[in-house]
Amino acid sequence: MLSLPLASAPASAGVAGTPGSPGAGDPYFPTQGNGGYDTQHYDLALDYNPSSNALQGAATITSRATQDLSAFNLDLVDTLTVRSVTVNGAAAAFTQSGSELTVTAALAPGQTFTTVVRYDGKPTHVLDPDGSRDGWIRTSDGVYNANEPQGAMTWYPGNHHMTDKATYRFSVTVPDTRVAVANGDLTSRSSGGGRTTYVWDARQPMASYLTTVSIGKFELTDTTLGGYRTITAVDPKLAGQATGFAARHAPVLDYFSSLFGPYPFSSTGGIVDHEPNVGYALETQTRPIYPRVPSDNLLAHELAHQWFGDSVTPERWQDIWLNEGFATYAEWLWADRRGVRTVQAAFDAAYAVPAGDAFWQTPPADPGGPADLFHDPVYDRGAMTLHALRAKVGDTAFFAILKGWASTYRYGNASTADLLALSEQISGARLDTLFDAWLFQPGKPAL
Ligand code: ARG
Ligand code: ZN
Repeated sequence: MLSLPLASAPASAGVAGTPGSPGAGDPYFPTQGNGGYDTQHYDLALDYNPSSNALQGAATITSRATQDLSAFNLDLVDTLTVRSVTVNGAAAAFTQSGSELTVTAALAPGQTFTTVVRYDGKPTHVLDPDGSRDGWIRTSDGVYNANEPQGAMTWYPGNHHMTDKATYRFSVTVPDTRVAVANGDLTSRSSGGGRTTYVWDARQPMASYLTTVSIGKFELTDTTLGGYRTITAVDPKLAGQATGFAARHAPVLDYFSSLFGPYPFSSTGGIVDHEPNVGYALETQTRPIYPRVPSDNLLAHELAHQWFGDSVTPERWQDIWLNEGFATYAEWLWADRRGVRTVQAAFDAAYAVPAGDAFWQTPPADPGGPADLFHDPVYDRGAMTLHALRAKVGDTAFFAILKGWASTYRYGNASTADLLALSEQISGARLDTLFDAWLFQPGKPAL
């Protein structure tokens, strides 16, 4: 869709500029993210009507140009209609094609600029290459909103690759009968005319696949437990089963803080929906989302991701084992701590898969493609890799590596190569052979 600007943008004479690239260069999702700028903050004002699925949005996005730009892209599916775009207050021309929103604006390298996108429509989820539903998933009473790896473009425009982290404010208006839950800290709630606006501030940088705005008939609690501000939203149909849900967080966070370093965010909690067929749970930042009351293992998994995945985020999707292998290993640690099963027994059970099994054909750091990101080898062989590393370097160096990883790359991005370098530096051992066998080669590694 093409629309003409009402007035020309300032500095529109920047003839030297070139368009920012339409993708961040990730081989698994080539059109995800965009080049030429870096975003610092999103202020998303959303108005949603669950009965009609009508969404109205105004996204105010603060970014900095990293090249001389004549135009730049945002990721937003074209089932949502963009009504207007301004850049630094002046109307800007734009086009929508597939999941690319292209905005014409002349911007100098280093220049900070504010883009306001007004849009509306009836959002729908997308189907991932692995067949799972991803994005704005409608439920009987609202929305289940999980966005890994590509759902964010189904409900707001952004630079939707994990390398461009930003802070967020969500102002979400819903009927009084519903609650809107997002990441970060609940900072205000105000009602009028039968509608309530919830404002959530996510104050630490976040990758867009970790954002959520989930809407439903939730019971909301906001309490400080064990020093953690714990905000939970539970579907009332699960109120009985979910008794004590809020209180389950602090003990896990305390144990993980002792192993991984301080909890990285200003609040915690979770969203428990009652959606048996909706798909996956997700480590949405500060506040994971679950389609049912989580087991102890699942709770530990999603809370471990707050360090590994959310605070320290991979640089590309191929490195997803840095999330899933670490979170699975943390499940093993938590089960050991509770006296359920030792880490060694968990490793032995996973390693017992026969060498001829297809499981061993997928190396976790090279899983194949976007359809293979969330398959067992990424999780279980990823966790086994960490245990093999621990066996090689010893407990002292191993736990120093976990803490060092969380602190060195806090709020940033890192790669498998970065983990190898840090592990070698901390342990003083050569680890390239071990990393290669466990992470990059098909076949069952010898012990
Ligand atoms: N990171 C999530 C977890 O392990 C899983 C996400 C799965 N996403 C998908 N599209 N299949 O908790
Ligand atoms: Zn996970």
